[in-house]
Amino acid sequence: MQPKLIIHGGAGSSLKGKGGVEVVRRSLYKVIEEVYALLTSGGSAKEAVVLGCQLLEDNPRFNAGTGSVLQSDGQIRMSASLMDGTSQRFSGVINISRVKNPIELAQYLQSSPDRVLSDYGAAELARELQIPSYNGLTDLRLQEWMQERQDNFQRTMAGVVAESDFAEHESFESQLTESTTARRGTIGVVALDTHGNLVAGTSTGGKGFERIGRVSDSAMPAGNYATQYAGVSCTGIGEDIIDECLAAKIVVRVTDGMSLQEAMQRSFAEAQTNKRDLGAIALDARGHIAWGKTSEVILAAYHNGERMGDTLEIPEGTQVGNGEMG
Ligand code: GLY
Repeated sequence: MQPKLIIHGGAGSSLKGKGGVEVVRRSLYKVIEEVYALLTSGGSAKEAVVLGCQLLEDNPRFNAGTGSVLQSDGQIRMSASLMDGTSQRFSGVINISRVKNPIELAQYLQSSPDRVLSDYGAAELARELQIPSYNGLTDLRLQEWMQERQDNFQRTMAGVVAESDFAEHESFESQLTESTTARRGTIGVVALDTHGNLVAGTSTGGKGFERIGRVSDSAMPAGNYATQYAGVSCTGIGEDIIDECLAAKIVVRVTDGMSLQEAMQRSFAEAQTNKRDLGAIALDARGHIAWGKTSEVILAAYHNGERMGDTLEIPEGTQVGNGEMG
């Protein structure tokens, strides 16, 4: 079977005119190239999803791992999950601090009897596994939080799409302005391997400025779900994704016989009617690739077996597309 791959680096406001499109495209394509090479050399979908999530978590441009946004108390708390469609097994960590790659803990928990751990328990596991302590704070996220604190936290979310490299193109101040106008980050990967196994993974720093204890969709089946028929990773406002139960809804529709494109169209039409702000990437077992969004832009890229493509310049508004585009 020909492997397929789709990844995302969040959803948000338009990248147009900000010099950000090419920079984001390069970042996403670099990940696609490395992860797709693993799949074509016989790597499993699970290995591919974990590697893809690690690479995206390590890129400070995206709101996961290094570069995660800060919560209302100025701390980073991250959430990540992994779902194996073949075993139909979900695992994850919720609100973990001081680790470099939360997806690694989700991977470890795949074979544990207790498969979703939160804050204190997740930290205990990291200590047991002797995972080194790591601070994923970046200057941009700290500046963003301090600016917002001065305004007494009027925003309900942080800017979660940092659109340029620090030294590239723009000043720190302009990046801060852009970062705070862009929103709704998370990273995600869905892969189909040569054996036909589907796996989905999602990781996030949350929405930024949230109350301590707020739980993201990213480590719930609402935000990350797979069966042997389809896999989905979501991005956007967690509360909206949970209210739609978006990932599970799309996957169950495909599992019950709907085509992936129809399941995406139906689910995004419902999300639009309900005025949600979200996006999703998806694969089915036959190798169809799909993405959808109600937000202005979704930062997604894919490999359809022949070439890479992306969604960075798709028109604003609710859109559903497939891997033949871009
Ligand atoms: N979708 C990421 C979050 O809201 O936490």
